[in-house]
Amino acid sequence: MSEVTELAARAGKLDAGDELSAVREKFVLDEVVYLDGNSLGALPAAVPGRMDDVVRRQWGELRIRSWDESGWWTAPERIGDRIAPLVGAAPGQIVVGDSTSVNVFKAVVGAVRLARLTGGGRDEILVDATTFPTDGYIAESAARMTGCTLRPLEPAEVPGALSGRTAAVLLNHVDYRTGRLHDLPGLTAAVHAAGAVAVWDLCHSAGALPVGLDEHGVDLAVGCTYKYLNGGPGSPAYLYVRGDLQDRFDSPLPGWNSHAEPFGMRSAYEPASGALRGRVGTPDILSMLALEAALEVWDGVAVEAVRAKSLALTDFFLECVREYVPAGRVESLTPAAHAERGSQVALRCEDAGDVMKRLIERGVVGDFRHPDVLRFGFTPLYVGFGDVERAARVLAETLAG
Ligand SMILES: Cc1ncc(COP(=O)(O)O)c(C=O)c1O
Repeated sequence: MSEVTELAARAGKLDAGDELSAVREKFVLDEVVYLDGNSLGALPAAVPGRMDDVVRRQWGELRIRSWDESGWWTAPERIGDRIAPLVGAAPGQIVVGDSTSVNVFKAVVGAVRLARLTGGGRDEILVDATTFPTDGYIAESAARMTGCTLRPLEPAEVPGALSGRTAAVLLNHVDYRTGRLHDLPGLTAAVHAAGAVAVWDLCHSAGALPVGLDEHGVDLAVGCTYKYLNGGPGSPAYLYVRGDLQDRFDSPLPGWNSHAEPFGMRSAYEPASGALRGRVGTPDILSMLALEAALEVWDGVAVEAVRAKSLALTDFFLECVREYVPAGRVESLTPAAHAERGSQVALRCEDAGDVMKRLIERGVVGDFRHPDVLRFGFTPLYVGFGDVERAARVLAETLAG
């Protein structure tokens, strides 16, 4: 058997034994091999009908009554509780709303304020130097506002850089470019040993692999919902504040929605207790309720099963690339070790921008990251092994042509 038929046959067997294969039916998909769910997740089939109801009945007919009767007011906490098991959090610790960027700001400033409650002159924020740019920009501003120095460094350098001066550390669970999975338990423990506060950005891990926020004692975390949680373009992000820290969490954006008595219209701010202390202003209800409908695809799905399939998909993709693509034409930036791999494969390729354009024309959608990276995201809920084999084959043909 040629290598193509052998790998295609294996893909068929793997798809036949895939316990998550039925979940694909819960999405609106076509013939395209969609490997960009780490940027924008595909549309869950339940969303259009739900939005029709939200717009026509809840908004169109019930109008203002929907804040109570349709549960609009409590949506940020309710949807936070729906996300909680996906990131290993008990209920009551996650609130949905605002963008990831805004939540990074709340979390980093909040972390510095928490760290200073125990005294000491903590005046440094450590940030992942390879971070998605928005986190770096916001950490820099947060540092200026709190009188801290910002130290960008590689995540592996963090343990050696921690000291009695460290207030907060902002890290990514999975690197957006390379797909490298960082050691959340180990780094969080090191941050705590130095008396500092750990903030994790879960954009590229939530919905793709177990996070274990409670288990590993993470202090604060943020994440978006439009990637592996399939909430839709610009769907609201979330903020996790560990239960025992909530009473001391001092948000730098205290809006009326996080007031203990929002309709008391008081001039003095008094923070609410619990996760809703992370709220700011009126929630973006349409996007939020699209996200709520999207999260139904997770009913009956265990994150552990998603992780097992994710690793099998990325292993198989790397194998197909090795078999099909001429040696030296691409180089994987994604770690080979499972313990260090998220749910994407990043391939360095000299003419990556042009190659990705041609792949998309041929029905294989990944994305290009400046200057030379082809990025392929594997969403186990709807990507199959046949998709993986086809993507690698089309990539090889594109590189040859
Ligand atoms: C790691 C990470 N943080 C933050 C963001 C974006 O933040 P926002 O939701 O505010 O656009 C992204 C977007 O891809 C990201 O990958």
